[in-house]
Amino acid sequence: MNENFKLDIKQRPRRLRRSEAMLELCAETRVEASDLILPVFLKEGKSGAEKITSMPGVARHTIDSLLRLCESALNSGIRAIAPFPQVPTRLKSPNADEALNEKSLANRAISAVKRRFPEMLVAADIALDPYTSHGHDGILAPDGASILNDETVEVLSGMALMAARAGADIVAPSDMMDGRIGAIRAALDECDFQNTAIMAYSAKYASAFYGPFRDAIGSAPAQGKGGKKKYLDKRGYQLNPSNAREALREVLLDEQEGADIVMVKPAGPYLDIISKVKESTNLPVAAYQVSGEYAMIRAAADKGWIDLNRARNESLVAIKRAGADIILTYFAQDYIKNTRLG
Ligand code: PBG
Repeated sequence: MNENFKLDIKQRPRRLRRSEAMLELCAETRVEASDLILPVFLKEGKSGAEKITSMPGVARHTIDSLLRLCESALNSGIRAIAPFPQVPTRLKSPNADEALNEKSLANRAISAVKRRFPEMLVAADIALDPYTSHGHDGILAPDGASILNDETVEVLSGMALMAARAGADIVAPSDMMDGRIGAIRAALDECDFQNTAIMAYSAKYASAFYGPFRDAIGSAPAQGKGGKKKYLDKRGYQLNPSNAREALREVLLDEQEGADIVMVKPAGPYLDIISKVKESTNLPVAAYQVSGEYAMIRAAADKGWIDLNRARNESLVAIKRAGADIILTYFAQDYIKNTRLG
């Protein structure tokens, strides 16, 4: 090594990476508690929370334990939840009748949360998959192969109205039927819910990363027989993973129909879509880090193959950096409690 070797350069970007304080001072992106929506799973009954095997660290909550969860979420600065119900099998039907029960598990949970914690934002899921015996997000055509669009939208509009009545601040259609945002907006306005916001799952892809979620809400067992799990094919309504321009088309339609927030889902494998959507709209952009993204990080960390805190923080900051204003993530609470360690 030559002791006198010196580069004659003025620019040394590493000056800004010399200490923790300097790194933080120059950080371009920060993920804050106020950016996050915590998705939560619900079950009937009185006993406490129950583990979900494919999502370590995530539980299915009764309404009582949900209220305790909300309290701890609010204490850590998380002010928005998105509940998803595990509907008892006996209440599922081909036409999702239970979706229109104003006393459904989801609607009871929404009103219980809003009564106890009026400051907690609740984003109600509007989709039929928790309620259909076949697990699809809509009503099946007589041929059994396709999903009926307009018939499904009619049910979704009624469902959105009930969620608004139960006190939901946001209704979030996650179904991908055509024209549902306009129909839901009209139904809400007609009943004086002008102030209920719509967060549209606009660019929702037909993804393999939803696997653990289908376990969590129990829409998976409907799909297979003899212990062999067959993944439900939703390509007839969710987006083709190979398409980007089609996502922008969906976003534009939802915006024209009255969406207040648009969403990209999944998040991590679709950072390019988040960034393109951000450029194409002035609405807030949400991104959903889905169950499979969560489970992959957790599983590798549980095996000691990656560092949980760092991988979690990196996955979230990447989603925000790509352009997401709002992130739905199962890591929400965990992230806030452990950010300093990353
Ligand atoms: C269905 C719905 C899905 C998710 C939220 N709502 C899965 C699907 O389309 O089958 C997935 C969320 C996740 O995987 O975390 N309406």
